[in-house]
Amino acid sequence: MNPVRIAVLGCGTVGTEVVRLLHEQAADLTARIGAPLQLVGVAVRRLSRDRGDLPVDPDLFTTDALGLVKRDDVDIVVEVVGGIEPARTWLVEALRAGKSVVTANKALLAEDGATLHAAAVDGRADLYYEAAVAGAIPLLRPLRESLHGDRITRVTGIVNGTTNFILSSMDETGVGFSEALDQATALGYAEADPTADVEGFDAAAKAAILASLAFHTRVRAADVHREGITEVSAADMASAKAMGCTIKLLCITESSGDAVSVRVHPAMIPRTHPLASVGGAFNAVFVEAQAAGQLMFYGQGAGGAPTASAVLGDIVAVARNRLAGVRAASESAYADLRIRPIGEATTRYHISLDVADRAGVLAAVAGVFAAHGVSIATVHQSGRGNEAVLVIVTHRATDAALAATVEELRALDIVRSVASVLRVEGE
Ligand code: NDP
Ligand code: HSE
Repeated sequence: MNPVRIAVLGCGTVGTEVVRLLHEQAADLTARIGAPLQLVGVAVRRLSRDRGDLPVDPDLFTTDALGLVKRDDVDIVVEVVGGIEPARTWLVEALRAGKSVVTANKALLAEDGATLHAAAVDGRADLYYEAAVAGAIPLLRPLRESLHGDRITRVTGIVNGTTNFILSSMDETGVGFSEALDQATALGYAEADPTADVEGFDAAAKAAILASLAFHTRVRAADVHREGITEVSAADMASAKAMGCTIKLLCITESSGDAVSVRVHPAMIPRTHPLASVGGAFNAVFVEAQAAGQLMFYGQGAGGAPTASAVLGDIVAVARNRLAGVRAASESAYADLRIRPIGEATTRYHISLDVADRAGVLAAVAGVFAAHGVSIATVHQSGRGNEAVLVIVTHRATDAALAATVEELRALDIVRSVASVLRVEGE
């Protein structure tokens, strides 16, 4: 049997494990695919980098990724470099030339997946990207195959391990955000520059990919309403605990009628919700579908070996397709739904206010909520001298109504500050 020839672009955290698994599982992979996989090249940035005991012939390494992609003896291109360019150029080149592509590059898919999908159609090639969302968890294939006969209504997920680790340690130990981030960095969960994780960019890219697949609509990272976790305080976490909740960075995408909404933000969820018990750096995604009901996917969302597991699964699938002379179904974007602005999203809110403690304050504050049609569910006041902290939880209201309420509260002289505003989900 002729081998299926693979070029791997990138040999870092994920690429190293991909290459290792290709070597270690070679016999089983051959049996499962019906032909051997042959590694024909590995593109890296630095040839001089020490790659330890990696079982790869040193002559296979190159810094010319585009040259490797263009070679005639390449059937499958595996891209585990990341970023928009030059990855997009490499993958478009590969796909247009009829080479199958497996990528973990969530940033590129969320920024310009349309270009990649179009190139795959042009070249009649496969484009697989299971590893791009939630690492090892089989999630995209269930969305794009198993659930294609159903109607998905909502996907709620914890899709960033770093922020889940930080929020879990804030919940468990009572520390503030900065201290929890330092712990995450010391333990190797957070990167030296944690911006993409803590500001929600990484989760927003994953949310765009999930929304596109769930709702058959092209959703880009720029369409996602995004808030990070840097403003979540120890006091917020304590307040959540007092309500029987915890705080998670959630990605939420839902569709009703002609529109899809996609948002990433910290939110309080009840401890009884299945996502509340997802601790540490784990990921979990909760899918609600009309016929299937509620489904939960859970596992390791990051790390070299877990992510490589998803990459290898895709390699097996595209290799089998090549041998059978077929390709998977193209992108499904027929629904072309409108992206619902965040102002139209409805949920409940937890608002913490520092106020003056004197007669009429509660009435004035309540009046602002009433003026914007935001109904108050509970109020809790704790005093300290001439000042008090008011914690208000609302019934469901639109984001626009809540934003207008908060703006007016900020302008009141009896309100010293709006200490925090958090959404309450999952009830
Ligand atoms: P790393 O930074 O660890 O590795 C990147 C690799 O790409 C390195 O081997 C680097 O070479 C190589 N590289 C960089 N620039 C070039 C270039 N211009 N030409 C050739 N090679 C280049 O990244 P990760 O392995 O962590 O991530 C890879 C992809 O997987 C990203 O898209 C990421 O979002 C995604 N992903 C990562 C997860 C994780 O847990 N790490 C989880 C899920 C997805 P050199 O070794 O010489 O520096
Ligand atoms: N930085 C990401 C995380 C890696 O923390 O989940 C996986 O995409």
